[in-house]
This record gives sequence, C-alpha cells and structure tokens, in this order.
Amino acid sequence: MESGRRVSNIIITGFSGTGKSLAAKNVARRLNWDFLDTDDEIVRQAGKPIAEIFRDDGETRFREFERRAIKKACQQKQLVIAIGGGAIVDPRNYELLSENGLIICLEAKPEVIYERLFHEASCSPETEVRPLLTVENPLERIKQLKSNRQPYYAKSDWTIHTDCLSIGEVAEEIVRAWKLLSRGDNCQRSNASYKDIACLVKTAAQIYPVYVGYGLLDKLGEKVMKADLTGTTTIISDENVFSLYGIKVKGILESSGIPVNTFVVPPGEETKSMNYAVKIYDFLIEHRAERDDIIIALGGGMIGDLAGFVAATFLRGMPWIQVPTSLIAMVDASVGGKVGINHPKGKNLVGAFYQPSLVLADPQTLRTLPRRELTSGWAEVIKHGLILDEELVQFLESNVDGLMKLEPELLAQAIARSATIKAQVVSQDEKEREGKRTVLNYGHTIAHGLEAATRYRRFLHGEAVAIGMVAAAKLSHRLDLLPSATAEHQDAILQKFGLPIEFSDLDLTDITTAMELDKKVKEKEIHWVLLEDIGRTVIHGNVPQQDVLAVLREMTKA
Ligand SMILES: NC(=O)c1ccc[n+]([C@@H]2O[C@H](COP(=O)([O-])OP(=O)(O)OC[C@H]3O[C@@H](n4cnc5c(N)ncnc54)[C@H](O)[C@@H]3O)[C@@H](O)[C@H]2O)c1
Repeated sequence: MESGRRVSNIIITGFSGTGKSLAAKNVARRLNWDFLDTDDEIVRQAGKPIAEIFRDDGETRFREFERRAIKKACQQKQLVIAIGGGAIVDPRNYELLSENGLIICLEAKPEVIYERLFHEASCSPETEVRPLLTVENPLERIKQLKSNRQPYYAKSDWTIHTDCLSIGEVAEEIVRAWKLLSRGDNCQRSNASYKDIACLVKTAAQIYPVYVGYGLLDKLGEKVMKADLTGTTTIISDENVFSLYGIKVKGILESSGIPVNTFVVPPGEETKSMNYAVKIYDFLIEHRAERDDIIIALGGGMIGDLAGFVAATFLRGMPWIQVPTSLIAMVDASVGGKVGINHPKGKNLVGAFYQPSLVLADPQTLRTLPRRELTSGWAEVIKHGLILDEELVQFLESNVDGLMKLEPELLAQAIARSATIKAQVVSQDEKEREGKRTVLNYGHTIAHGLEAATRYRRFLHGEAVAIGMVAAAKLSHRLDLLPSATAEHQDAILQKFGLPIEFSDLDLTDITTAMELDKKVKEKEIHWVLLEDIGRTVIHGNVPQQDVLAVLREMTKA
C-alpha cells in the first residue's frame, strides 16, 4: 500500500453472490455515508437491465458503462461503492479505485455462491444471476470465472471470507478493517501506520495490531489515537515498572491530550489476585471511570493478566491496551487475550478471554529487566521457533551474541517474529476450543509439574519451560518420534541462551503428582506436545508415566 493514499471511499469487490450490495448498504448506514452500486448506475445510464445490455449490446458495451460508472463514483467522497464482480479485472478500473478508496474483497466458496445465487429465496434468479452465469453448468462456470479473477481480487487491501457470516457480520468486519487501515490522520493512510505493526491478531471479537519497535513507547499516544480510543486512561503498573517508565508513559499520553490516572500495585505473582482486582475496581469507581475509558497494562505478564481481568469485568468490559515490558509478556502473555487472576486453589483459575485494542511492545524497556527474567523469556521465544518456525530457530542461533547484547534491530526482529507466531495460533483458536492452541504448550506439561512441586518459588516460568522442553524432546526420542541429535540440538540452543536443561534436589514423583493434580483441578486431559523435528510437533494423548519418570531421572543432576 503506497503512502499518502486517501481513504475517501470504501470499495467492495468480489464475485457475484458474496453479498457486496447488501453489505455495502449496511456499511453506509453504519458510517452514515452514501451508498452506490455501480450496477444500478449502469442500468440507469443504459435505460435497461443488465441482462438486456449483454443481450443487445454485448459485454464490451457493458464494460464501457461500468467504467463510466466507476469514474463517476470515484469523484465522490465518503461513499461505499459496490462494484460488479468483473470490474476490477480492468487495470484502469483498479488504478482508479485504488487511488480513491480502500478496496475490500468479499470471498465465498463457489458452492456457497452457487447456493446463494440459485437457491436462496432472498436472491431471485432474474435480479441476481449475472448474464455470464446463464449456462448449462453454472457451478463449473462460477469456479472457472472465479479462478480467472482471483489474481485481481488478491490485489484488494483486505479480504473477508463471508461463507459463515451474516450480512451484518460482514458489514461489521468491513468497518473494522476500514478503521484499522485508515484511522487517524484525517483518513490519510501512510506507511507510518503500518511499519511498526508486527502482526494482527484476528479473532471473532476483534482485530488488533501488535506493534513492536525499539523506542516505540514514544509513540504510544499516537497509537492510542489511531485506535480511535477516546476517554481517560488508567495506567496499571507494578512498583518496579512504574518507577522506571510510569512518569514517562504518563507524559507521552498527556502530550497527546489523553487524560491519565495511575494505579500502582506491588510486584510479584501474589498481586495477581481478587484482592488487588477489587482495589483497582474501587479506584475506578472513585474516579468515576466509564465504559469508554481505557485501561493500560504497563508491565510484565502479571500486570497484563490482572489489568486485563479488570478491563474484562469492570462495567462489563472496558477497552484496554497492553504495553508489555518483560520478554515473556512481549512474545506470549500480551498476545491472545487470556486474562485472569490466581485462586488459592490454583494459578490462573479465574479469568476470561478478552482481547486488547492494541499491543505495543518496546524492546528498549528490556534493558532494565533483571537478567534472570530476560533469560527466562528467551525460553518462550525459542519455543515458538521449535514448534512452528525453523527459520526463527536458525535466526536465534545465528544471532545469540547480538541478542544477548540486546542489539535493537535483532531484538525487535526476534520479538516481532515470536509474537507473530503466537498471534497466528491464537487467531486460529481464540478460546482454546479447537485444540490448535495446544501446540503452545510444548514443554509446559512438565513445567507446570516443576513449578507446582516447588510451590512456584524455585523456577521462573521460562526456566521451568526450558527444562520441560528438554524433557519433551527426550520423550519424543523415547517414543521414536525424534532423532536424538535433534533433541541435543534443541538443548544446545537453550543452553546458549543461558537456560537450564537439568535440575536437582527434587523428588520426581512430586513432579508427576503435581502434573496429575493440575490436570484434575483444570478438568483437562494431559495433551503432550512432542517434537517430530524442529518446527514440527505432534500431540499425544497418553504417555506412560514410567517414560516420563525415566526422562526426568536422566535429567536429574547428581
Ligand atoms: N495471559 C497469558 O497468555 C500469559 C502467558 C504467559 C504468562 N502469563 C502470566 O505472566 C506472568 C509472568 O510474566 P512475567 O514473567 O512478565 O512476570 P512479572 O509481570 O511478574 O514480571 C517479572 C518481574 O519483572 C519486573 N519487570 C517487568 N518488566 C520490567 C522492566 N522492563 N524493567 C524492570 N523490571 C521489569 C516486574 O516488576 C517483576 O518483578 C505470570 O502471571 C503468568 O501466569 C500469562
């Protein structure tokens, strides 16, 4: 997308039967813009229905009318324009349209299009079925025409798959895409809005950007405004992080004209509790917070989980923003919308899925993160590579020294890539119902056992995950899934990043008992995520306990 293009209009393209006209009308109503269907304009100009233009004058004449209608539409502003399914194929039309608006393509499977056009009561064949489809085998023709046009549809700014969506839902998606791609700057789109975005998290409830950039904290005010968030912000942070960045962040927001309140809690996992959630509710009530006000989580994963939980529940949900400052929070906790607090009976037992409006990660803040916390965070970065991205693993291995020295460009690249992997998984399985998120649990089964057996006092989470990954790779080898050389390669990478690959002074049955207990409390089966290769996993429902004990024994330091 070129810089400086104006989003004066929204243009809806896509094959017949994808709901272009109805969705465009709906969007126009939502935005209070005008609506125009170029087919209606053609009929008006020609003084006869489209089928008759095709019959009497041929397709070439129809395309001339179409081109004229598009030219006329593009002279206007704040217009939602539905164009014919073949219009975008003409490069002159595409050029004009792309200069004058955001092009959104509506997609549907050929079979769905066929059903909609030929069998749904709402589409009568006389009015909806295009002349190009009046052939003996319309489904085949749809497939062929659609496949010919696909390269042109692919040039759109945004694509929405409509198969399972109602017209209202499609319109909602269009408005969301429009907001995301054109907000701020008086509708001026520029590369500046995109260049900091590492990825988008796309869930049913929300599409939001994850910004990653060294020094990006300075742009927090700008990004909040781009997200169309208005209202007073409440920064929630812990004492450590607030003392380093609180005043700075407050100043950045205030200089963008955003009012700021602050609430600071003690650091540490004990703060992630109902007790502190209630303290924050009290503060928000006292400050008369309203539903459009914004919570900003400034801190590590503990703050993200607690502040997000408050945002999800106070006034039945307020907008919120994640500003992660620990490595774990940047690549893991801030992406995916899992929020929650601990219960005396278990960690993270009370919570919700509640997506933020944006995530802004500034790796520069990692300069003050205690070394051990930083090292622990690398475990999650490495994990993302091990489960899904061999290239990331290679990048990490080739740049260990630079990454250890926190070289800005390398650090930002590693974090952006790792957060993107998390975002992709979460986008496919927002609420952990489809099993696709399970892959993120690589190393976590034993990590949970280790953490619980040591009452969360001995290992940082990433340290436990590193040991868990070593165990999972050993198990994978034991079950003939993974060559021992690959398991050893994994262990070497973990060691290069300063992570532990063994442990001592622990009763092994304490670990397995804690794993069983965790399973019971969470009413979950253990799904073992095992490795087949770097970047490739397999899920096993049942791994014999003697195998687990055997690998743990192998990993116990004398
Ligand atoms: N929601 C999720 O999907 C998810 C995923 C992973 C972990 N988590 C949660 O995240 C928490 C662990 O995250 P964490 O390791 O970030 O813990 P944390 O938030 O407790 O931070 C660790 C320590 O680092 C300090 N700190 C953070 N950023 C700093 C900075 N830039 N400079 C100096 N000090 C800084 C904190 O004050 C704290 O003392 C746990 O509660 C875990 O359950 C949630």
